[in-house]
Amino acid sequence: MFDLPALRTSLAEKYDLSPSPELAEEMSDIYQKMSRVVTPADWAIYAPYVKAINQLKTERNAVVLGHNYMTPEIYHGISDFVGDSLQLAMKATEVEADIIVQCGVHFMAETSKVLSPEKIVLMPDMEAGCSLAESITAEGIEEMRRRYPGAPVVSYVNTTAEVKAASDICCTSSNAEQIISALDAETIIMTPDQYLAQNVARNVPEKNIVWWEGSCIVHEQYTAQDLRDFREWNPGTRLIAHPECPPDVVAEADFSGSTSGILNYVTKEKPEKALLITECSMASNIADELPEVEFVGPCNMCPYMKKITLEKVLYSLDTMTGQVEVDPAVAEKARLAVQRMLDLSRKLGL
Ligand code: 13P
Ligand code: SF4
Repeated sequence: MFDLPALRTSLAEKYDLSPSPELAEEMSDIYQKMSRVVTPADWAIYAPYVKAINQLKTERNAVVLGHNYMTPEIYHGISDFVGDSLQLAMKATEVEADIIVQCGVHFMAETSKVLSPEKIVLMPDMEAGCSLAESITAEGIEEMRRRYPGAPVVSYVNTTAEVKAASDICCTSSNAEQIISALDAETIIMTPDQYLAQNVARNVPEKNIVWWEGSCIVHEQYTAQDLRDFREWNPGTRLIAHPECPPDVVAEADFSGSTSGILNYVTKEKPEKALLITECSMASNIADELPEVEFVGPCNMCPYMKKITLEKVLYSLDTMTGQVEVDPAVAEKARLAVQRMLDLSRKLGL
């Protein structure tokens, strides 16, 4: 647990972090990427942190991998690469830096460590978990294998390294359908997201998909009635849902895709009004790039993703705290499952 005022005070002893309209102006090229969603006053507070982190990254030969659900000042201000879970996992195998700072949640940092064990992977807040990753253990995977003997296990990347190590292959919301279709088995176990599994099952009817009963606390809150109401009250709005939403919600939407799928869809279609049925920062991060699109609410916030802040990133990189470790034997097995997914995704051109 962080004591934020104390953290700010200790950082201010080493870095000039006072709000600065002058520095904000100097760094206006970065601000332009978020000016629709971040006020000038807030930018004056963020700018000194962004400057300090970017300098420290160069000194330490570090890169920041930022998930699409990071807040705009992290996404646009300090991230060297941004993307969905699949894109960030691919990037973790490609970057040449000594240090990866994972701006996302813990399972993403573990995936980076599993793929790049020689690198230091920093997690700015170890409490940035995920309700899906917490919903299943390696014993749960064994239980599913006992229930469905011989069926391969496809685990969502939103799992711990132990769970990945106990699985045959991983998937993300970008590639789940393709991975399932490519497996040479009729019955396939998908863990831990019941809704992603049900959404895939609808689109790949030739497979008998069985699932674990986990869910995402952000996406499970939406209901199909919410979408019907919204459509009635806001005619002409394009409804775009993440596949972690329940299947009746996805069925009610105009499009469903991973966070990068959502970005690609909105960029290509440029609807006049769009409602992103997902985490709040998704719309904020693309709002400036797409001035012609009006992003209308409501959205849900992920309390885990929101644990990552500029202060914690600066502290982690300054003190090198929050280093993610994975037991080498577990990492070796987990790497197999993740690597199979990456190889298949690259082969399929995803
Ligand atoms: P993607 O970015 O892969 O769509 O996944 C969203 C997610 O679950 C991150 O929390
Ligand atoms: Fe986990 Fe859902 Fe938060 Fe993603 S949005 S980290 S799936 S709880």
